[in-house]
Amino acid sequence: MSYQAAENRYDNMQYRRCGQSGLLLPAISLGLWHNFGHDVAFKTQRAICHAAFDAGITHFDLANNYGPPPGSAEEVFGQILRDELKGYRDELIISSKAGYLMWPGPYGEMGSRKYLIASCDQSLKRMGLDYVDVFYSHRFDPDTPLEETMGALDHIVRSGKALYAGISSYNSECTRKAAAILKSLGTPCLIHQPSYNILNRWVERDGLKETLQELGIGSIAFTPLAQGMLTDKYLNGIPEGSRATQGKSLSPSFVSERAIQSIRALNDIAASRGQSLAQMAIAWVLRNEGITTALIGASKPEQVVQCARAVDNLEFTQSELDRIDAAASEEDINLWARSSES
Ligand SMILES: NC(=O)c1ccc[n+]([C@@H]2O[C@H](COP(=O)([O-])OP(=O)(O)OC[C@H]3O[C@@H](n4cnc5c(N)ncnc54)[C@H](OP(=O)(O)O)[C@@H]3O)[C@@H](O)[C@H]2O)c1
Repeated sequence: MSYQAAENRYDNMQYRRCGQSGLLLPAISLGLWHNFGHDVAFKTQRAICHAAFDAGITHFDLANNYGPPPGSAEEVFGQILRDELKGYRDELIISSKAGYLMWPGPYGEMGSRKYLIASCDQSLKRMGLDYVDVFYSHRFDPDTPLEETMGALDHIVRSGKALYAGISSYNSECTRKAAAILKSLGTPCLIHQPSYNILNRWVERDGLKETLQELGIGSIAFTPLAQGMLTDKYLNGIPEGSRATQGKSLSPSFVSERAIQSIRALNDIAASRGQSLAQMAIAWVLRNEGITTALIGASKPEQVVQCARAVDNLEFTQSELDRIDAAASEEDINLWARSSES
């Protein structure tokens, strides 16, 4: 199948500066954590990527372990790149990460120089790339000197295997230390990737938002839809085929009666703004000046198309924000809390 990107792909997306860097990112980015393994048809995966690029989503986020099996998301994306997107390489921002378990033994996870550099090489091979645009430390490693982990990121950038360095899920205190080390090495921290959505506001309690703004680091908020809970999908319980039925990261226990009440109230607020709940949830994350882009996932191309249109209404009145706060209390859904800690 030959693919020709939509000619008007840049007409309706917003591009926002990533911290104090020269890099602009689309307000909405696409992540390949779920739905890009061997458990989903290749043609669906390809259609999701095409829908994203056609909608002006230039940023694709991966990690060594995305699949299943681990590594397969990068292989699939590599194939899509080779077959259809290669001619567009200079229009794309491609990210990968290392931090979680990827191969057996003591060198297959966490934050050592040994692991990060080997993992970056493997990711490049799987995707058939000479370089990724952003390479991340995927989680904070309390047992490895931060100088070693940041030194590995600096090395990866200096050796041309990545253009920029990033960190994910680090709390405010660890972020300050990491950013200072990277700065001293001459490789600034481009971006931070935290979980953040209406039902998971740890970045507000932690002070991370203010820290990133002060340090001039951009941020990419992952799971802005709370893995699908902040959409119209779960308004009447858990539908067949949804992520909550797949035994993956969205435990059905998260979709509690209390959460459903919140989701219904939020859905009414979204309707009064002329948006779907997914669009409002994305807009809510992007209302923060310090959040550069919302990192969504999708199981169907139509979901991407709908989410991309969130940029049509990013403004909130104070009364809408108050109604959202009254409708939704924080839920215990932050699976990444332990990955942040020193
Ligand atoms: N750095 C880290 O540690 C970390 C951790 C987790 C994720 N991430 C990144 O963040 C990305 C996004 O994570 P996520 O997939 O959990 O994000 P999400 O955007 O919160 O949830 C995506 C899910 O929401 C549903 N959805 C999306 N658009 C929809 C729409 N318009 N209408 C109805 N349902 C819709 C789909 O659920 P169904 O599948 O049920 O249809 C989709 O799979 C990942 O791919 C990854 O790149 C990073």
